[in-house]
Parts: sequence; C-alpha cells; structure tokens
Amino acid sequence: PRAGEAKAESRGVPFGAMIQSDYFRSDAAYRQAFLDHCDMIVPGAELKFDQIRPERDIWRLEPAETLVDFAMDNGRTSRGHTHVWWNSVPPWLEAITDRREGERVLIEHVERVTNHFRGKLLGWDVVNEVIAHDPIQEGPLRRSKWLQLLGPRHIPLAFEATARTDPAARLVVNDYDLEFVGPRFDARREIMLTIVRQMLDANIPVGGVGIQGHLYGDRQIDIDALTRFHKDLDALGVELLVTELDVINRESAPDPASMDALAGKLVGDLMDGIFAWKRPAAVVTWGITDRYTWIPDEMPRYDGEPHRPLPLDRDYRPKAWFEIL
Ligand code: XIL
Repeated sequence: PRAGEAKAESRGVPFGAMIQSDYFRSDAAYRQAFLDHCDMIVPGAELKFDQIRPERDIWRLEPAETLVDFAMDNGRTSRGHTHVWWNSVPPWLEAITDRREGERVLIEHVERVTNHFRGKLLGWDVVNEVIAHDPIQEGPLRRSKWLQLLGPRHIPLAFEATARTDPAARLVVNDYDLEFVGPRFDARREIMLTIVRQMLDANIPVGGVGIQGHLYGDRQIDIDALTRFHKDLDALGVELLVTELDVINRESAPDPASMDALAGKLVGDLMDGIFAWKRPAAVVTWGITDRYTWIPDEMPRYDGEPHRPLPLDRDYRPKAWFEIL
C-alpha cells in the first residue's frame, strides 16, 4: 500500500499536507513526497480570496485546480482553504464600504469558487481565524474587514453560501491557538464552541472544527482541555480535524535531534489530547518537508539555524515523530 494509505489504515485517520504550486512545479521529489505519504492535499495559498481575485474581474482558479487534479488523478482527496480570511483581502475589496455591496461580493465569491470545485473537495475551511487573537482584550471576534463590513453575520452567510452550492462538502470553522495552557486559550476554545452552537441553532450545517496546530517550543499543550473540547464538539455532532500542524521552535537547541525530540513531545501531547476522546477526522500538516515552510519568513529562529517543523526533513527523510500521526 502507499504510505499515506497505510497511515489511514493503521490509525484510521486520513493524513494530508499543505502543498505549494511553485515547488510543485519545480521539484519532482516534492511531488513524490505527497504521493508517498498523503491521503489528502491542501493548496496553501491558491484558494485564498486575494489569490483567486487579485482584481475584481480577474478569477484565477487554475493554480488550485492543478493541485486538486493532481490529487484526484492519483486517487487522493483535497480540502479547500479558505473562503474568508482577514489576511487575504485584496485592495479592491478593502476599498468597499457599502454593506450590501460587501454582502454581494462575499456570496458571489463563495458560490463561484465552491461551485468550480464542487465534488472535488472533501470540504472547506469556510472561515479561517475569525476569533480575536486575544479575546480577553479584544472581544470575541477578530476585527477583520469582513467583520467591519458585515458584522458577525458574515460567518453564517459564508457557511450558507458554501452549503447550498456544495451540500456534500464538510464545512469547517478553522482557527489557531486552540490547544495550549492558559486563559487566552481557554477563552478561544469557548468562543469556538459558541460560534459552532449558534450556527447549529440556526440550522447552518457546521461539519467540523479545524485546529490549525501551529505548535510552539515554549508553550504547553492543554491535554485535558483538548479532550473536553473534542468531547463537546462531538456532542454537537461536529468533527475535529487538525488542519495546519507544524512546530515553531524559535529557542536555541543544542542539535537537530533535541529539536525533533521537543517536536515529538508537542505533537504527541496534541494527539493524546484529541485521541483521548476519539479519532480526529483528519490530520494535515502545513507542508511536508522542512525545505519549504512559511515559518522562517514570519518567525526565524533566534539562533539563525534552520527550523525543523515538518514530518520530513530537508532531504525528505521522515522524522521519528511522523509515526505518531
Ligand atoms: C500562509 C501560507 O503558508 C503562506 O504561503 C502565505 O503566504 C500566507 O499564508 N495560518 C493559516 C494559513 O491559516 O493560511 C497561513 O498560510 C499560515 C497561518
């Protein structure tokens, strides 16, 4: 069996990874890594609003389609990431101030993109990072362009538009910082549950919650809180997925082996918390090889050494902790 299939069979959890168009084109070993290890792929940028619609009348769907077709042609699946994200608002959309126009743009976008990929994607991260970074300071929701323009109802509006266009897709609320010890993280978990409950009460089909799973070397996973969170979602009939797993370790470490040991501990704690209730619906890492990762651009290591965030090292050798997934 393919490695990815073996994983799904051994633990019953489909494994996927985020893929990037540019390296997909340039690096055959990168393409092969997906075939060797993944049940599922997730285009990392190609389905975001600003990538699809850099201008109001330009619709760029081909880059994502290439990746989705690659998955399908090889008997794999894909997930859609993401219709609504505060950080993928193009300037022309930023300039819109009329509420009705904003609503039309949102619905038109979600319907057209969802329809284009209908039947080809397992589901969508319909909204991404709508919870405030620090809800204790800022209130529950992030002050995004979409919130300013349409208020909290942009969330159910996006879900309804996705659901009516592709009723078979699993519709996910995706967010970060849902797995750690501390009041800010408790608050974020509570808000996620509230968002889900409110939508279900309004008969909006929320199928899943995505824990991004960007883990940090200097944070502790709240194993018990994660188990409770999973249990609470399950009671609502909502699945839990890990959607963007990687390990961000900025602190100095004596050698790669100790970095990998720390990563293994964090990933193990995350999985322990989730599995203590039941299997998650999927686990997806944000990339497959340390060669290509978003982390150094945003959060370089303090000692300047390369990050080791992903299941395969720079030479495509699996880390020991990949066995946990
Ligand atoms: C990142 C991509 O990896 C980058 O290539 C892109 O330029 C910016 O976005 N959380 C998310 C992802 O939900 O969409 C982000 O992806 C990483 C953080």
